[in-house]
Formats: sequence, structure tokens, C-alpha cells
Amino acid sequence: MPPAIARTRAELRTILEGSQRVSFVPTMGALHDGHRQLMQHARPFGDVLVASVFVNPTQFAPGEDFDAYPRTFDADLATCESVGVDVVFAPEVETMYPHGLIETVSIDPGPLGAILEGASRPAHFRGVLTVVSKLFGLVRPDVAVFGEKDYQQLVLIRQMATELATGVEIVGCPTEREASGLARSSRNVYLSDDDRRRAPALHAALQAGAAVGPDGAEAVLAAARRVLDDAAVTPDYVALTDADLGEPVPGQQARLLIAARVGEPRLIDNISVNLGLGA
Ligand code: PAF
Repeated sequence: MPPAIARTRAELRTILEGSQRVSFVPTMGALHDGHRQLMQHARPFGDVLVASVFVNPTQFAPGEDFDAYPRTFDADLATCESVGVDVVFAPEVETMYPHGLIETVSIDPGPLGAILEGASRPAHFRGVLTVVSKLFGLVRPDVAVFGEKDYQQLVLIRQMATELATGVEIVGCPTEREASGLARSSRNVYLSDDDRRRAPALHAALQAGAAVGPDGAEAVLAAARRVLDDAAVTPDYVALTDADLGEPVPGQQARLLIAARVGEPRLIDNISVNLGLGA
């Protein structure tokens, strides 16, 4: 059955009236197999599965690809139908930002929002957290599912959900990859043939780093950098953190994160690392 479509706050409330447990997958559309996996992951958490399709202007800086961001609503609806989404919430900008884009109230992501992705995209996580918090207020989900590919986003949303007592359970979903290992992303459509040959180096570097986890942090970072070097990919960062993006602790689970521009698009990826005590 095709999903019900809500464009306004009132339509959404009418459609969701009387719903029991709601599971929710927020997206910016241009849906691919990664989103399909998020939706399938979310399905068992609720009686009603809601997906939102909204390209959020406040998480793009001037000069970023807000205008060019792929908008493929008809195909997105077909994808939602194929995985059994019940309701698609696809609001206009005015519905999400009735007072305009220069907001007087927004969510401060705190210090974790200023590192890694936040260092090169200073307003990005304020925009993400603000729109996610609005979406939570409108959809009122019990559970919301986010991809581990955007690991920093997942950590920040989880922190926001807990600290602001939203009552929404945040569930992470493993990254869906192409056969080459490249993490699926809506921005992969910008990769040229040559970029596509180099882009899998991000995942290869993560795997190389994770493989030497027991040898300690320096070995992990060196192994990952070597793979990127060999593929002529210059990273924005190669970082090793603990699972919450703090300092990595030897002997515990860590996270290795990479960002790199490959041709036009900036790609990000990450992996879990079993960190040993090192030399
Ligand atoms: O990950 C995304 O697609 C976006 O950042 C999100 C969570 C839908 C907020 O606009």
C-alpha cells in the first residue's frame, strides 16, 4: 500500500491520531539502499513507521550544496512503499521554520559539535539538532533510527535526546556499503568515474586501522593514513576517539573516523576498533 503523505503539521497529526508505538526515520530524501536499511531496521520498533523527507536548509552553510542537493520525491515515495513505510512527512520549509530561517531558538550542540565535522562545518550540527528536535516534536516517535555512517550526528542526537529528556529512544543502524566498500550516501551521485576508483580507500583505510587495533592508537592511525596515502586521498581528518567521541581509552572499544574530499564530494566514514594497550 502506498504511504499516506502529510505535508502540514495538521495533516500529520490527523494521520497519526490514535497511533500506538511510532518508529521514525528522518531523511533528506534522495533515498538509496542505506535509507532502505534504516527503514527496515526501524520497522519492528513500532506499529506505525514514519519517514520524513525534508532537505533542511539550516544544516547547510552558504556555498554548500543546499540548492543542488538531489530532490527525487517520486522515487523516494516508491522506495518508502517498497519497505512498508506507513506515513511520509514531507513538509515545506515554512512548515518547519514558520518564523523564518534566522531563528531565535535553536539547539546548541555543545563542544562535541565543534570537533571533526563541526570544525569544517561550524553551523552544521546546530541545524541538524534543531530540525531533529522539531521533527521529534511533530512526529512524537517512540523510537528514531539513524545511520552509523554519520557517527558524530548519531552521538549528538543521542546526547540531545537524553539531555533534553525527549523520551525518544535513539537506535543506530550499521552502514550500508556498495560492493567496493564505499559507504552509501546521497552525495555519491557527485562522484566521477575516477573518484569512484579512489573513494573505497576510505573504507579500506578504516579496515586497515581496525585490523591493528590490538597494537594501540598510534598503529591504528598510521595504518589508516598509509592506505589513504597510497590511494592519493588527502584526508580532512583521521581521528581515533572513544565510542562517545571523547579520548580513546586503551583496552576499550574505540571509533576510527575519516573525512576526505574525493573529487567534489566530501566523504565520511567510520569503524569500531578494539583498541589494545599498544607498544
Ligand atoms: O542524516 C540526515 O539525512 C540529516 O542530517 C537529518 C538527520 C535527516 C536531519 O536533517
